[in-house]
Amino acid sequence: MIRPSRLIPIAFASLAFGATAAAVNAQQPLKTLLVGVDHRTVTSLDGDWHYLVDQPPARALYDAHGKVRDNSYGMNTHPNISSSPHNDEYDFATAPTLKVPGDWNTQDPTLFRYEGVVWYQRDFDFQPRPNTHTFLHIGAANYRSYVWVNQKRICDHEGGFTPFDCEVTTALKPGSNFVVIAVDSTRDVDGIPSVGIDWFNYGGLTRDVSLVTVPTTFIDDYDVHLKHGSSFSEADGTLTGYVHVVGASAGTPVTLRIPEADIDTTVKTGTNGSAPFEVKSKSLTLWSPEQPKLYKVELASGQDRLTDDIGFRDIRVDGTRILLNGKPIFLQGANMHAEAPYRTGRAWSDEDAKNIFGFLKEMNANFVRLCHYPHDERMERMADRDGIMVWSEIPLWQHISFDKPEVYAKATYMLNEMIRRDRNKASVILWSVSNETPNNPTRTKFLTDLANEARRLDPTRPITSAIIGPHPKTTAAGIEMINDDPFASALDVIGQNEYIGWYEGKPEDADKVKWTFPDKPVLISEFGAEAKQGVHGGPDERWTEEQQVNVYQHQFVMINKIPQVRGLIPWVLMDFRSPVRNIPKLQDGFNRKGLISEDGKKKQAFDLFQKTYKDHSVGKAE
Ligand code: GCU
Repeated sequence: MIRPSRLIPIAFASLAFGATAAAVNAQQPLKTLLVGVDHRTVTSLDGDWHYLVDQPPARALYDAHGKVRDNSYGMNTHPNISSSPHNDEYDFATAPTLKVPGDWNTQDPTLFRYEGVVWYQRDFDFQPRPNTHTFLHIGAANYRSYVWVNQKRICDHEGGFTPFDCEVTTALKPGSNFVVIAVDSTRDVDGIPSVGIDWFNYGGLTRDVSLVTVPTTFIDDYDVHLKHGSSFSEADGTLTGYVHVVGASAGTPVTLRIPEADIDTTVKTGTNGSAPFEVKSKSLTLWSPEQPKLYKVELASGQDRLTDDIGFRDIRVDGTRILLNGKPIFLQGANMHAEAPYRTGRAWSDEDAKNIFGFLKEMNANFVRLCHYPHDERMERMADRDGIMVWSEIPLWQHISFDKPEVYAKATYMLNEMIRRDRNKASVILWSVSNETPNNPTRTKFLTDLANEARRLDPTRPITSAIIGPHPKTTAAGIEMINDDPFASALDVIGQNEYIGWYEGKPEDADKVKWTFPDKPVLISEFGAEAKQGVHGGPDERWTEEQQVNVYQHQFVMINKIPQVRGLIPWVLMDFRSPVRNIPKLQDGFNRKGLISEDGKKKQAFDLFQKTYKDHSVGKAE
């Protein structure tokens, strides 16, 4: 079911990231977004939650005008405690349960194709402590969420792939409490992504849910990175950034300790609660794929303490090269959706991350594009530890309502959430603001502004995006592909998607293609063909493993003629569920461009990339 965009009260949110005039946001003001929650001691609310499917009209989430109802299932009344004159005709306590984290589609067959509102409820014991704040931390919930605690409406959130925190301090009571969260997975024409997507719209509380208790003044945000000057050598072991303390008056001390780097410094907050710092280490080992060194970073202010594991490295563009710690690199990677290997469904767990990174390492990859949205934080943590570089992106996928200011505000908010969560992850080397959007002035302005916002938020990483088109022009010299997309001028690194040999022309046509790009590094950010694992035939027989290999072999000939290609990102590491892929016996609801099937079976193209990456036989770092 696709709902036209609802009129949602537009509230000017004083964003925790700093009130910005453009940030007109369609959701409750977010009090904060806690960084490093996975390194704090939390009360986990993962596990079995009771659930009920939304039942219009009596207690449904939205009234007839699309407004959130007050006397909905959020009240969690029971037949025996109902104060209303009639039985409220629902009872979470005896309702079935779903595992959280997890999408509902692959947990309950009756919900497999359900797109709408599911109500989650659970009880929990809690002992509030004086002089503390408690936040409900939700790693992600797709797509809109509405939260009640002990019958009090707490917060809303829009966006299916980024974390959010809602303060519940005043709603909690000693002893037994309960939380109700309505999650609405309905696609929205003004959503991000919009309504047409080539992946499964898994709904639900798809990542961890926990309670985080912090002191009256607490550290909610920090940025600790290698100084990013005009050249790599300028850094010379200097670390810089800030620590933000909520509730701190100016002059509050903040301590930063990195014992293994001989760093122990105390700085003071300014009037905005932020304590900037710059400190030099005599003995810093830089993070790289070959040596993914992480340091224990200890932050403290007042009663609040937290640690994080952070790697330090320099990533920058130099002409058409990408430099990591001053050295040119070539990115040998793959695209990957957050699809759980073997079990399918939305990937979130340590097991899922281990399986996905196992495939990447087996393929001799040093890079992964976590498409088309931020994945579970476990993925970037594993990338940090394993030395796999990451392209991270928000889901502005193809057709977005680029003409609407409230959509720009949502995109800005989502970009803030992504960068805030992962800015301290050395493995993340690229932020991407979109995928395959139509080349028109409204979109180009929207995305250029967004790319500049990303650069403002994080000047230490190159900004990229995946561009589709141009279409081939046949000339006497062969086939010309000229990337003259004006949006490319807003990017530091160009992602070029192309499917010569699958969607366009024959595999061998790639041999005759001459590409023209702006003078910047280029990543072939999507290329490939469909193949059903185990289906074999001739090199020109579509849907066979041999044809998939044939497409890539001709692609390699073409790519080796493009001097500024600095990375290969085949589409896609693993087959993934997509409701638009319905050829019986070949797709059966899966996009089959994977190098591996969803049940972990390698196709011949996997072996091709494994050897190509081992031999470094395609593309050059400079
Ligand atoms: C597009 C798009 C992907 C999609 C792929 C395909 O380029 O970016 O999300 O799945 O092509 O058609 O398989």
